[in-house]
Amino acid sequence: MATLVTGGAGYIGSHTVVALHEVGRDVVIVDNLSNSSPKAVAALRRLTTDDLVFVEADLLDAESLRRVFADHPIDEVIHFAAFKAVGESVEQPIRYYGNNLGSTIGLVEAMVDAGVSRLVFSSSCTVYGQPDEVPVTEASPTGATNPYGWTKYMSEQILADVAAAHPLDVVLLRYFNPVGAHPSGTIGEDPNGIPNNLVPFVMQVAVGRHDKVRVFGDDYPTPDGTGIRDYIHVMDLAEAHVAALDALAGGLRGAVPINVGTGVGSSVLEVIAAAGAAVGTAIPHEVVDRRPGDIAKTWAATDKAAEILGWRPSRDLDEMLRDHWRWQSRNPDGFA
Ligand code: UFG
Repeated sequence: MATLVTGGAGYIGSHTVVALHEVGRDVVIVDNLSNSSPKAVAALRRLTTDDLVFVEADLLDAESLRRVFADHPIDEVIHFAAFKAVGESVEQPIRYYGNNLGSTIGLVEAMVDAGVSRLVFSSSCTVYGQPDEVPVTEASPTGATNPYGWTKYMSEQILADVAAAHPLDVVLLRYFNPVGAHPSGTIGEDPNGIPNNLVPFVMQVAVGRHDKVRVFGDDYPTPDGTGIRDYIHVMDLAEAHVAALDALAGGLRGAVPINVGTGVGSSVLEVIAAAGAAVGTAIPHEVVDRRPGDIAKTWAATDKAAEILGWRPSRDLDEMLRDHWRWQSRNPDGFA
């Protein structure tokens, strides 16, 4: 049997493919390469097996999707494929809703038709919007502050409704802030254009692609005034997906939201300092105005992941930044 991984050539998807391979799962990747490249697939084959199945297809293409299920013995699915840039989603809401919701609906329809009942969905802590209290638990109020976030919120609702009506069980993994890379340094995050996220930008400063990091505000109600997030190593996150598939295979039922974070918050200045230590030289930075839409602080309550998935993260911020730096320093221009 095989695990279908949509978006398996992307950042989190590729690391999860490695984790699946390590536990002996056969993998079928479907990816349209809209935010990754054939070089990512080649690197992934070198890390796993030449036999890794890669299908270049768009999930909005129902016929291609039907063929994937007809041609391969798929018994479980992880759905990563989606557009994910917050700012772009504000400018292009139709494109974001069309792609992210259309692909989720097309995928579950194909799963129901094929009789495949186990799904892990790539959701986000963005579904907590502006949290009133930290740490956020899975029972915290949900909402969103931009179209990207709403596509995650709505996809969760769609999947819960489908799970109530059809033989479908789904774990909704709500990721906090994934960073880091596989320790080999051969796969990693390769953002399109100028990175929006902190760590990819910091690392591009470190390789000289930008002068300095702009710290978006130091007047938040946090100890050093900068925003606090729960950064999680992408390999820990990858392993959470394997644990979620195991839980589904073990009989977990319904549509179950689970946070994937470390429970530890780090400020922007702490991340920049830890990155400097990983790189071996201080990272130039300056404080500028707040970025519109940013929240002051969030981190995860992690009890549910431990209880239901038996999963706990094992890598700290220093390891995240060392591994991210290994990838970035060996591949200053990503997969280009
Ligand atoms: N930041 C900077 N400078 C930068 C980039 C970010 O100071 O150049 C700060 C932000 O203000 C924030 C922190 O670094 O305090 C983290 O910002 P990121 O953009 O890396 O991450 P966010 O938490 O804002 O965004 C993440 C995901 C989104 C998701 C969002 C909401 O990347 O996909 O969480 O939970 F929508």
